[in-house]
Amino acid sequence: MTAVKLAIVGMGMIGKRHLQAMKTLREAELIAIVDPAEQAKDIALSEGVRWFAKIEEMLAEVVPEGVIVSTPTEIHLAPTLSALEAGCHVLVEKPIAATLEEADKIQEKAKIIDRFVLVGHHRRYYEVMKNTKEIISSSVFGKLIGVNGQWTTRKDEKYFNAPWRKQSSSGPILINMIHEIDLLRNICGEISHVSGFVSGEFREHAKEDTVAITLWFENGALGTFLLSDATNSPWNWEHATGENADLPFTGQNPYKFLGSKGCLEFPNLKFWKSNGLADWKNKLECEEIPQLSEDPYVKQIAHFCKVILGLEVPLIDAYDGKKSLEICLKILAERKNSKEANI
Ligand SMILES: NC(=O)c1ccc[n+]([C@@H]2O[C@H](COP(=O)([O-])OP(=O)(O)OC[C@H]3O[C@@H](n4cnc5c(N)ncnc54)[C@H](O)[C@@H]3O)[C@@H](O)[C@H]2O)c1
Repeated sequence: MTAVKLAIVGMGMIGKRHLQAMKTLREAELIAIVDPAEQAKDIALSEGVRWFAKIEEMLAEVVPEGVIVSTPTEIHLAPTLSALEAGCHVLVEKPIAATLEEADKIQEKAKIIDRFVLVGHHRRYYEVMKNTKEIISSSVFGKLIGVNGQWTTRKDEKYFNAPWRKQSSSGPILINMIHEIDLLRNICGEISHVSGFVSGEFREHAKEDTVAITLWFENGALGTFLLSDATNSPWNWEHATGENADLPFTGQNPYKFLGSKGCLEFPNLKFWKSNGLADWKNKLECEEIPQLSEDPYVKQIAHFCKVILGLEVPLIDAYDGKKSLEICLKILAERKNSKEANI
């Protein structure tokens, strides 16, 4: 099988992660890097691939089969549309775009041009997602009553050297919570109502830093979620799973799914089950369910190649990516300062 020819547009933090994943796959071949930064030019040189400062310059000379758009969120729209117009399939990082109007433009263009858009919600590729859905729909778990989750950590000051990360389109709601919303929609079902308190009083950025969220799912389950990039805690996905080599593994569980008969700590699965009657007079036994060690970014690129070859359809298409964006924008719209929030 000949490898699928890919380009990466935006060779920053996550662009490098895509490159690392791609290098492990025989079915993918990097042919070009687009990024005006000097370090991107150096990477292209060391990888032996073409380098371009702008996507238009690349498309005038080489047209890959697939383009990975990993530029800052505010700059997802233009390269995604250019790549689609040139006939490429696109893997665009999350959030799909900074606004719903931009997400619509991507969805419409993909439809007109008849090309696929895959949105980079990489967590969906973990086996633990499938295992968790199975547990939650089991009779031992019972009916899903609620979920309590947390993504709390303190981002380092260097992280904010890139000015775009201080904008409200790139605060923890649109950068981090969007992963949690995609995860919750995938495991618990669609969200019908969302509300929150949004505070930005820790750092002097345009973006928020701490958010308390309430959720109501279409199936009747309720949820609460605490989000913050200003507190140094072990309770967040990255520290729980160790998926980012720069963030130390804790193995802690930031999620609890609550059923009428049992409950589940997640993502290091601990299934609390009742042997007899499921009420507070009966002891719950805890089963720890080991998980595979796996790289979701590798699985994501492998899936993107299959999408390009027409063997699979996108696991997270533009419509799906837009739904998570819509919920996050609703939360973001709740931003007030604490004086306005007084009752
Ligand atoms: N899936 C994930 O887990 C994950 C993790 C981190 C970031 N992201 C997403 O990826 C995107 C990028 O985030 P990052 O942290 O890698 O950013 P970054 O600032 O580290 O890198 C962005 C890169 O894009 C380049 N760039 C800017 N404008 C460009 C243009 N017009 N054409 C080509 N290159 C351009 C910059 O020079 C830079 O190298 C964001 O949308 C973010 O939400 C996803």
